[in-house]
Parts: sequence; structure tokens; C-alpha cells
Amino acid sequence: KGILNKSNDYEGLKVLVTAGPTREPIDPVRYISNHSSGKMGYAVAKAALERGACVKLVTGPVNIAPPPGAEVVCVTTAVEMHNEVMKSYGDFDIIVMVAAVADYRCASVAERKIKKSGEKLTLELVKNPDIAAELGKVKGSRILVGFSAETDNLLENAALKLASKNMDMIVANDVTMEGAGFGVDTNIVKLIKRDGSRIDLPVMSKEGVAHRILDEVLSIKNG
Ligand code: CTP
Ligand code: CA
Repeated sequence: KGILNKSNDYEGLKVLVTAGPTREPIDPVRYISNHSSGKMGYAVAKAALERGACVKLVTGPVNIAPPPGAEVVCVTTAVEMHNEVMKSYGDFDIIVMVAAVADYRCASVAERKIKKSGEKLTLELVKNPDIAAELGKVKGSRILVGFSAETDNLLENAALKLASKNMDMIVANDVTMEGAGFGVDTNIVKLIKRDGSRIDLPVMSKEGVAHRILDEVLSIKNG
């Protein structure tokens, strides 16, 4: 198991992965988004494929190629990602939510380009559906894994999300650390399980992190 040994320990398992940012339109030429590159989510999808899983990747707009062999559904907004995930999760054993979903969208999207006018502009935003939290309520025996990208109070914030969204494991990711987070090829994370146990990983490639996540998911699944 792990990065070097391509075992088939995920054969027969179906894994749903969300990845990338979402993009929330303001008008026909502008949007609200975030710095997610999609690299971590795509690495999870690739690692699961290498281990024999059947993988569906629901991805926001990114600039990287999806791993060959995955069923890929491209979405733009959080609402689209929500709709796609809610209609397909039933077929899956394991759901890994790596996407950086925008928490809010514009209350109304302007039909035409908003022209520059006064000194201030206020946009009204409304909350997006929380896909992970919704899945937490309906997941049954499925394994639900989330990510928690934080700039402060990493462990406290991650533990709160793990509990409130009824996840089985959360990947706590301090995005302020060098070698971690958005855009780079490495990451530094802590894996926190429902039973309170924690694994602090050193700086690793995103592929390496993906395999460690999958190792722990399998150990939760196999009790
Ligand atoms: N998530 C989701 N749908 C959302 C927001 C988040 O599915 N609308 C998922 C993310 O994919 C991630 C987990 O929930 O796996 C935690 O996301 P995060 O943004 O850290 O948590 P929030 O609950 O949105 O809290 P905040 O942004 O305030 O820290
Ligand atoms: Ca959020």
C-alpha cells in the first residue's frame, strides 16, 4: 500500500471526488472564485484509479488534465456542483470532497456588464448549499471525507467541521505554511478521524498525500 506499491486494494470500490474551485458569476464578464488549482482533488482521483477504484470526478474550472479513466463532470457554480453530487452520490461507497466550494453566490446575476459608476459598489450575496453537510445527513454507511483549508485555529476549526458535517475523516490543511495549499505540488496536512485520532503528515507530494488519505479511508472502511 502507499505510493510505491500499486496494489489493487480499491478494486470493486466506487469513489466520488469533488475538486477545484467554483465560480460564481457577477455579470457576463465577472465572477467570484478562489485560488484552488484542483491539484489535490485530481491527485485523489488519480490515486484511487491507480488502486483499482471506479472514480467519478466532479470538477470546477481548473487548468489541469483529468486522470485517464475517471468519469469527469465539469461544473462551474456551487449550485451545479451540488446538483451533480446529490444526484450521483447514491452509487458511491466513498466520497472525498476536496473542492473549494464558494460559500456565497450573487443574489442576482446582472444580465449585462455592470458599468463603473459611483465610488462604492455593493454586491448582495446569498449562501450556497453546503454539499458536504447535506451528504453528512444522508450518507448512511458511505465514508465521507472532507478538507479544511484554514489560515488559523487549524485543529479546532477542522474538528468542528468533521463533527458538524458528520464526516468520517477531515484533512486539515494550513494553507499559510510554505509547501502547503493552493497551487503548489506539495502539501502538509493532518488527518483527523471521527474517533478523535490524528495523523500528522510531513510535507509530501499531493500524490503522496492522496495515497495516505486513501490508506486511512480503507482502514476506516474495514474497521
Ligand atoms: N463544502 C461543501 N460545500 C460548501 C462548502 C464546503 O461541500 N458549500 C465542503 C468542502 O469541499 C470541504 C468541507 O466542506 O470538504 C469544508 O469546507 P470549508 O470551506 O473549509 O468549510 P465551511 O463549512 O465552508 O467553513 P468556512 O469556509 O467558514 O471555514
Ligand atoms: Ca467555505
